[in-house]
Amino acid sequence: MLRIGILTSGGDCQALNAAMRGVVKGIYSKCKENEVEIYGFQEGYKGLIYSNFKMLTSRDFSGILTVGGTILGTSRQPFKLMRVPDENGLDKVEAMKHTYHKLNLNCLVILGGNGTHKTANLLREEGLNIITLPKTIDNDLWGTDMTFGFQSAVDIATDTIDKIHTTATSHNRVFIIEIMGHKVGWVALHAAIAGGADIVLLPEIPYDIDVIVDAINKRKKAGKRFTIIAVAEGAISKKDAKLSKKELREKQEKHKYPSVAYEMAEKVQKRTDQEVRIAVPGHTQRGGSPCPYDRVLSTRLGSAAAEAILDGDFGHMIGIKNDKVIRVPLAEVAGKLKYVDPQSDIIKEARLSGISFGDK
Ligand code: F6P
Repeated sequence: MLRIGILTSGGDCQALNAAMRGVVKGIYSKCKENEVEIYGFQEGYKGLIYSNFKMLTSRDFSGILTVGGTILGTSRQPFKLMRVPDENGLDKVEAMKHTYHKLNLNCLVILGGNGTHKTANLLREEGLNIITLPKTIDNDLWGTDMTFGFQSAVDIATDTIDKIHTTATSHNRVFIIEIMGHKVGWVALHAAIAGGADIVLLPEIPYDIDVIVDAINKRKKAGKRFTIIAVAEGAISKKDAKLSKKELREKQEKHKYPSVAYEMAEKVQKRTDQEVRIAVPGHTQRGGSPCPYDRVLSTRLGSAAAEAILDGDFGHMIGIKNDKVIRVPLAEVAGKLKYVDPQSDIIKEARLSGISFGDK
Protein backbone atom coordinates (compact mmCIF):
# COMPACT_ATOMS: atom_id res chain seq x y z
CA MET A 1 0.00 0.00 0.00
CA LEU A 2 1.26 3.48 -0.95
CA ARG A 3 0.11 6.14 1.51
CA ILE A 4 0.45 9.72 0.25
CA GLY A 5 -0.34 12.86 2.24
CA ILE A 6 -0.99 16.08 0.32
CA LEU A 7 -1.47 19.70 1.37
CA THR A 8 -1.57 23.21 -0.08
CA SER A 9 -0.03 25.96 2.04
CA GLY A 10 0.34 29.76 2.01
CA GLY A 11 -1.57 32.14 -0.25
CA ASP A 12 -3.72 30.36 -2.81
CA CYS A 13 -3.24 30.77 -6.54
CA GLN A 14 -4.48 29.37 -9.81
CA ALA A 15 -3.62 25.77 -10.81
CA LEU A 16 -3.25 24.32 -7.28
CA ASN A 17 -6.04 21.87 -8.09
CA ALA A 18 -4.60 21.19 -11.54
CA ALA A 19 -1.22 20.32 -9.97
CA MET A 20 -2.78 17.95 -7.40
CA ARG A 21 -4.76 16.33 -10.19
CA GLY A 22 -1.48 15.85 -12.08
CA VAL A 23 0.07 14.09 -9.08
CA VAL A 24 -2.90 11.80 -8.52
CA LYS A 25 -3.36 10.93 -12.21
CA GLY A 26 0.36 10.14 -12.43
CA ILE A 27 0.15 7.83 -9.43
CA TYR A 28 -2.95 6.00 -10.67
CA SER A 29 -1.46 5.54 -14.12
CA LYS A 30 0.99 3.14 -12.46
CA CYS A 31 -0.99 1.85 -9.44
CA LYS A 32 -4.37 0.21 -8.95
CA GLU A 33 -7.06 2.09 -6.98
CA ASN A 34 -6.75 -0.32 -4.00
CA GLU A 35 -2.96 0.06 -3.88
CA VAL A 36 -3.01 3.74 -2.90
CA GLU A 37 -4.38 5.81 -0.02
CA ILE A 38 -4.49 9.58 -0.32
CA TYR A 39 -4.75 11.78 2.78
CA GLY A 40 -5.72 15.38 2.01
CA PHE A 41 -4.74 17.68 4.89
CA GLN A 42 -7.07 20.64 5.39
CA GLU A 43 -5.83 24.24 5.34
CA GLY A 44 -2.15 23.58 4.85
CA TYR A 45 0.22 22.72 7.67
CA LYS A 46 -2.62 23.34 10.13
CA GLY A 47 -4.24 20.09 8.96
CA LEU A 48 -0.98 18.23 9.47
CA ILE A 49 -0.42 19.74 12.93
CA TYR A 50 -3.94 19.00 14.18
CA SER A 51 -4.43 15.79 12.20
CA ASN A 52 -7.31 17.24 10.24
CA PHE A 53 -7.56 15.33 6.96
CA LYS A 54 -9.91 13.60 4.61
CA MET A 55 -9.35 10.42 2.68
CA LEU A 56 -9.54 11.09 -1.04
CA THR A 57 -9.89 8.93 -4.10
CA SER A 58 -9.08 9.52 -7.76
CA ARG A 59 -12.68 10.75 -8.20
CA ASP A 60 -11.98 13.75 -5.94
CA PHE A 61 -9.35 14.93 -8.42
CA SER A 62 -11.53 14.58 -11.48
CA GLY A 63 -13.01 17.74 -13.05
CA ILE A 64 -10.74 20.15 -11.17
CA LEU A 65 -8.22 21.04 -13.87
CA THR A 66 -9.85 24.41 -14.49
CA VAL A 67 -11.07 25.13 -10.97
CA GLY A 68 -9.34 27.97 -9.09
CA GLY A 69 -8.46 27.97 -5.37
CA THR A 70 -7.70 24.68 -3.64
CA ILE A 71 -10.04 21.81 -2.79
CA LEU A 72 -8.03 21.29 0.41
CA GLY A 73 -8.15 24.87 1.67
CA THR A 74 -5.01 26.68 2.74
CA SER A 75 -3.63 28.92 5.48
CA ARG A 76 -0.50 30.85 6.30
CA GLN A 77 1.54 29.21 9.07
CA PRO A 78 4.68 31.37 9.37
CA PHE A 79 7.93 29.41 9.36
CA LYS A 80 9.34 31.55 12.18
CA LEU A 81 6.50 30.33 14.46
CA MET A 82 6.90 26.64 13.62
CA ARG A 83 9.25 26.09 16.57
CA VAL A 84 7.03 28.18 18.87
CA PRO A 85 4.43 26.06 20.72
CA ASP A 86 0.75 26.87 20.01
CA GLU A 87 -1.57 28.48 22.61
CA ASN A 88 -2.02 25.07 24.29
CA GLY A 89 1.71 24.38 24.43
CA LEU A 90 1.65 21.95 21.50
CA ASP A 91 5.00 21.44 19.74
CA LYS A 92 3.94 21.94 16.10
CA VAL A 93 6.88 20.19 14.49
CA GLU A 94 6.50 17.14 16.73
CA ALA A 95 2.75 17.17 16.06
CA MET A 96 3.30 17.15 12.28
CA LYS A 97 5.77 14.26 12.59
CA HIS A 98 3.32 12.42 14.81
CA THR A 99 0.48 12.76 12.26
CA TYR A 100 2.77 11.55 9.46
CA HIS A 101 3.94 8.48 11.40
CA LYS A 102 0.52 7.71 12.88
CA LEU A 103 -0.92 7.47 9.36
CA ASN A 104 2.11 5.48 8.24
CA LEU A 105 2.62 7.79 5.27
CA ASN A 106 5.22 6.99 2.64
CA CYS A 107 5.50 10.61 1.67
CA LEU A 108 4.01 14.08 1.87
CA VAL A 109 3.38 16.24 -1.20
CA ILE A 110 3.46 19.94 -0.34
CA LEU A 111 2.35 22.70 -2.70
CA GLY A 112 3.56 26.12 -1.69
CA GLY A 113 5.75 29.19 -2.04
CA ASN A 114 8.72 30.49 -0.11
CA GLY A 115 7.62 30.18 3.51
CA THR A 116 6.08 26.79 2.77
CA HIS A 117 9.39 25.55 1.37
CA LYS A 118 11.26 26.51 4.52
CA THR A 119 8.92 24.36 6.60
CA ALA A 120 9.00 21.57 3.99
CA ASN A 121 12.78 21.51 4.27
CA LEU A 122 12.55 21.45 8.06
CA LEU A 123 10.28 18.39 7.86
CA ARG A 124 12.76 16.78 5.49
CA GLU A 125 15.54 17.43 8.01
CA GLU A 126 13.30 15.78 10.61
CA GLY A 127 13.28 12.63 8.49
CA LEU A 128 9.99 12.85 6.58
CA ASN A 129 9.79 11.98 2.87
CA ILE A 130 8.86 15.23 1.16
CA ILE A 131 8.14 16.25 -2.43
CA THR A 132 7.15 19.85 -3.15
CA LEU A 133 5.56 21.72 -6.04
CA PRO A 134 6.31 25.41 -6.72
CA LYS A 135 3.16 27.49 -6.52
CA THR A 136 2.95 31.24 -6.24
CA ILE A 137 1.82 34.11 -8.40
CA ASP A 138 5.03 35.89 -7.36
CA ASN A 139 7.30 33.54 -9.39
CA ASP A 140 9.99 34.15 -6.78
CA LEU A 141 10.95 30.59 -5.87
CA TRP A 142 14.61 29.85 -6.37
CA GLY A 143 15.45 26.77 -8.45
CA THR A 144 12.64 26.94 -11.02
CA ASP A 145 12.23 29.19 -14.05
CA MET A 146 8.49 29.33 -13.44
CA THR A 147 5.97 28.77 -10.69
CA PHE A 148 2.34 27.97 -11.46
CA GLY A 149 -0.06 30.82 -10.76
CA PHE A 150 2.34 33.41 -12.17
CA GLN A 151 1.14 33.48 -15.77
CA SER A 152 -2.52 33.54 -14.68
CA ALA A 153 -1.82 36.49 -12.37
CA VAL A 154 0.02 38.30 -15.17
CA ASP A 155 -3.04 37.80 -17.40
CA ILE A 156 -5.30 39.40 -14.78
CA ALA A 157 -2.96 42.30 -13.99
CA THR A 158 -2.51 42.93 -17.72
CA ASP A 159 -6.27 42.95 -18.20
CA THR A 160 -6.52 45.62 -15.50
CA ILE A 161 -3.92 47.77 -17.26
CA ASP A 162 -5.75 47.26 -20.59
CA LYS A 163 -9.07 48.33 -19.13
CA ILE A 164 -7.64 51.33 -17.30
CA HIS A 165 -6.20 52.63 -20.57
CA THR A 166 -9.60 53.71 -21.88
CA THR A 167 -10.59 55.67 -18.77
CA ALA A 168 -7.10 57.14 -18.42
CA THR A 169 -7.25 58.39 -22.02
CA SER A 170 -10.81 59.72 -21.79
CA HIS A 171 -10.07 61.71 -18.62
CA ASN A 172 -6.41 62.76 -19.14
CA ARG A 173 -5.49 61.06 -15.91
CA VAL A 174 -2.48 59.52 -14.28
CA PHE A 175 -3.46 56.02 -13.17
CA ILE A 176 -1.51 54.11 -10.57
CA ILE A 177 -2.15 50.38 -10.71
CA GLU A 178 -0.88 48.41 -7.74
CA ILE A 179 0.24 44.90 -8.63
CA MET A 180 0.97 42.07 -6.21
CA GLY A 181 4.56 41.40 -5.19
CA HIS A 182 5.93 42.65 -1.87
CA LYS A 183 9.46 41.35 -2.24
CA VAL A 184 9.82 40.78 -5.98
CA GLY A 185 8.38 42.49 -9.05
CA TRP A 186 7.88 39.68 -11.56
CA VAL A 187 4.12 40.12 -11.97
CA ALA A 188 4.38 43.91 -12.20
CA LEU A 189 7.22 43.71 -14.73
CA HIS A 190 5.47 41.26 -17.06
CA ALA A 191 2.06 42.91 -16.80
CA ALA A 192 3.60 46.34 -17.40
CA ILE A 193 5.31 45.18 -20.59
CA ALA A 194 2.24 43.24 -21.77
CA GLY A 195 -0.14 46.08 -20.95
CA GLY A 196 2.04 48.88 -22.29
CA ALA A 197 2.39 50.74 -18.98
CA ASP A 198 4.47 53.91 -19.21
CA ILE A 199 6.24 53.56 -15.88
CA VAL A 200 6.81 50.46 -13.76
CA LEU A 201 8.17 50.47 -10.21
CA LEU A 202 9.71 47.30 -8.78
CA PRO A 203 11.12 46.43 -5.34
CA GLU A 204 14.39 45.50 -7.06
CA ILE A 205 14.86 48.93 -8.73
CA PRO A 206 14.35 51.77 -6.21
CA TYR A 207 12.72 54.83 -7.79
CA ASP A 208 13.31 58.55 -7.66
CA ILE A 209 10.11 60.61 -7.54
CA ASP A 210 11.76 63.40 -9.58
CA VAL A 211 12.34 60.94 -12.42
CA ILE A 212 8.69 59.84 -12.30
CA VAL A 213 7.36 63.41 -12.34
CA ASP A 214 9.71 64.21 -15.20
CA ALA A 215 8.44 61.26 -17.23
CA ILE A 216 4.80 62.29 -16.66
CA ASN A 217 5.51 65.91 -17.66
CA LYS A 218 7.43 64.84 -20.77
CA ARG A 219 4.49 62.70 -21.86
CA LYS A 220 2.13 65.62 -21.39
CA LYS A 221 4.38 67.96 -23.39
CA ALA A 222 4.49 65.37 -26.16
CA GLY A 223 0.68 65.45 -26.29
CA LYS A 224 0.10 62.15 -24.50
CA ARG A 225 -3.14 62.52 -22.60
CA PHE A 226 -2.48 60.06 -19.82
CA THR A 227 0.18 58.11 -17.93
CA ILE A 228 -0.11 54.61 -16.55
CA ILE A 229 2.15 53.66 -13.66
CA ALA A 230 2.30 49.97 -12.64
CA VAL A 231 3.62 49.77 -9.11
CA ALA A 232 4.54 46.54 -7.34
CA GLU A 233 3.35 46.34 -3.72
CA GLY A 234 6.94 46.43 -2.50
CA ALA A 235 8.19 49.31 -4.68
CA ILE A 236 10.50 51.56 -2.72
CA SER A 237 12.13 54.96 -3.25
CA LYS A 238 15.90 55.33 -3.41
CA LYS A 239 15.72 57.34 -0.19
CA ASP A 240 13.72 54.68 1.68
CA ALA A 241 15.92 51.88 0.35
CA LYS A 242 18.75 53.40 2.42
CA LEU A 243 16.77 53.10 5.68
CA SER A 244 17.12 50.19 8.08
CA LYS A 245 14.13 47.82 8.37
CA LYS A 246 13.24 49.43 11.70
CA GLU A 247 13.44 53.01 10.37
CA LEU A 248 11.31 52.07 7.37
CA ARG A 249 8.67 50.44 9.57
CA GLU A 250 8.53 53.54 11.78
CA LYS A 251 8.15 55.79 8.73
CA GLN A 252 5.35 53.63 7.29
CA GLU A 253 3.53 53.59 10.64
CA LYS A 254 3.72 57.40 10.84
CA HIS A 255 2.20 57.96 7.37
CA LYS A 256 -0.31 55.12 7.49
CA TYR A 257 -0.90 54.89 3.72
CA PRO A 258 -3.22 51.94 3.02
CA SER A 259 -0.63 50.73 0.48
CA VAL A 260 2.16 51.90 -1.81
CA ALA A 261 -0.25 53.13 -4.53
CA TYR A 262 -1.72 55.71 -2.13
CA GLU A 263 1.71 56.99 -1.18
CA MET A 264 2.68 57.27 -4.84
CA ALA A 265 -0.61 58.98 -5.71
CA GLU A 266 -0.03 61.66 -3.06
CA LYS A 267 3.52 62.28 -4.25
CA VAL A 268 2.51 62.54 -7.92
CA GLN A 269 -0.56 64.67 -7.20
CA LYS A 270 1.54 67.20 -5.28
CA ARG A 271 4.06 67.51 -8.08
CA THR A 272 1.95 67.52 -11.26
CA ASP A 273 -1.21 69.29 -12.38
CA GLN A 274 -2.86 66.09 -13.57
CA GLU A 275 -5.65 64.16 -11.90
CA VAL A 276 -4.43 60.98 -10.27
CA ARG A 277 -6.46 57.82 -9.65
CA ILE A 278 -5.65 54.43 -8.16
CA ALA A 279 -6.69 50.92 -9.14
CA VAL A 280 -5.83 47.94 -6.95
CA PRO A 281 -6.80 44.58 -8.48
CA GLY A 282 -5.58 42.91 -5.25
CA HIS A 283 -6.58 39.30 -4.72
CA THR A 284 -8.37 39.09 -8.06
CA GLN A 285 -4.83 38.39 -9.30
CA ARG A 286 -4.89 35.05 -7.48
CA GLY A 287 -8.44 34.20 -8.44
CA GLY A 288 -10.39 32.30 -11.03
CA SER A 289 -9.47 29.62 -13.48
CA PRO A 290 -5.80 29.00 -14.35
CA CYS A 291 -4.68 30.16 -17.79
CA PRO A 292 -3.71 27.43 -20.30
CA TYR A 293 0.01 27.92 -19.63
CA ASP A 294 -0.48 27.24 -15.91
CA ARG A 295 -2.69 24.22 -16.63
CA VAL A 296 0.09 22.74 -18.75
CA LEU A 297 2.88 23.62 -16.30
CA SER A 298 1.06 22.34 -13.22
CA THR A 299 0.04 19.11 -14.98
CA ARG A 300 3.65 18.51 -16.05
CA LEU A 301 5.05 19.25 -12.60
CA GLY A 302 2.33 17.23 -10.87
CA SER A 303 2.88 14.13 -12.95
CA ALA A 304 6.66 14.48 -12.55
CA ALA A 305 6.07 14.59 -8.79
CA ALA A 306 4.20 11.29 -9.11
CA GLU A 307 7.21 9.82 -10.92
CA ALA A 308 9.54 10.95 -8.13
CA ILE A 309 7.21 9.37 -5.54
CA LEU A 310 7.12 6.08 -7.44
CA ASP A 311 10.93 6.20 -7.77
CA GLY A 312 11.13 6.73 -4.00
CA ASP A 313 13.28 9.83 -4.68
CA PHE A 314 12.32 12.34 -1.99
CA GLY A 315 13.58 15.64 -0.61
CA HIS A 316 13.05 17.59 -3.83
CA MET A 317 11.03 20.40 -5.32
CA ILE A 318 9.84 19.59 -8.83
CA GLY A 319 10.76 22.61 -10.93
CA ILE A 320 11.31 23.56 -14.55
CA LYS A 321 14.53 24.82 -16.21
CA ASN A 322 14.78 25.52 -19.94
CA ASP A 323 11.57 23.56 -20.46
CA LYS A 324 13.00 20.48 -18.71
CA VAL A 325 11.25 19.27 -15.56
CA ILE A 326 13.85 18.80 -12.84
CA ARG A 327 14.19 17.63 -9.22
CA VAL A 328 15.83 20.37 -7.15
CA PRO A 329 17.10 19.44 -3.65
CA LEU A 330 14.92 21.13 -1.03
CA ALA A 331 18.00 22.08 0.94
CA GLU A 332 19.03 24.30 -1.99
CA VAL A 333 15.59 25.88 -2.47
CA ALA A 334 14.63 26.73 1.10
CA GLY A 335 15.13 30.33 2.16
CA LYS A 336 16.23 31.71 -1.22
CA LEU A 337 14.29 34.20 -3.32
CA LYS A 338 14.47 34.59 -7.09
CA TYR A 339 14.59 38.34 -7.69
CA VAL A 340 14.26 40.31 -10.90
CA ASP A 341 17.84 41.12 -11.93
CA PRO A 342 18.02 44.87 -12.74
CA GLN A 343 20.77 44.08 -15.29
CA SER A 344 18.83 41.30 -17.05
CA ASP A 345 17.89 41.34 -20.72
CA ILE A 346 14.18 41.74 -20.02
CA ILE A 347 14.82 44.98 -18.11
CA LYS A 348 17.11 46.30 -20.85
CA GLU A 349 14.54 45.43 -23.52
CA ALA A 350 11.71 47.01 -21.54
CA ARG A 351 13.77 50.20 -21.22
CA LEU A 352 14.42 50.15 -24.99
CA SER A 353 10.68 49.86 -25.59
CA GLY A 354 10.23 53.14 -23.73
CA ILE A 355 9.14 51.96 -20.28
CA SER A 356 10.58 54.01 -17.41
CA PHE A 357 11.58 52.23 -14.19
CA GLY A 358 11.53 55.58 -12.37
CA ASP A 359 15.21 55.30 -11.54
CA LYS A 360 17.03 57.32 -14.24
O1 F6P B 1 2.64 35.54 -2.08
C1 F6P B 1 1.52 35.77 -2.85
C2 F6P B 1 0.88 37.08 -2.52
O2 F6P B 1 -0.26 37.18 -3.34
C3 F6P B 1 1.75 38.32 -2.68
O3 F6P B 1 1.95 38.76 -4.00
C4 F6P B 1 0.98 39.29 -1.84
O4 F6P B 1 1.81 40.34 -1.43
C5 F6P B 1 0.52 38.44 -0.69
O5 F6P B 1 0.45 37.12 -1.19
C6 F6P B 1 -0.82 38.81 -0.10
O6 F6P B 1 -1.07 37.96 0.98
P1 F6P B 1 -2.47 37.73 1.71
O7 F6P B 1 -3.30 36.85 0.84
O8 F6P B 1 -2.10 37.08 2.99
O9 F6P B 1 -3.10 39.08 1.86
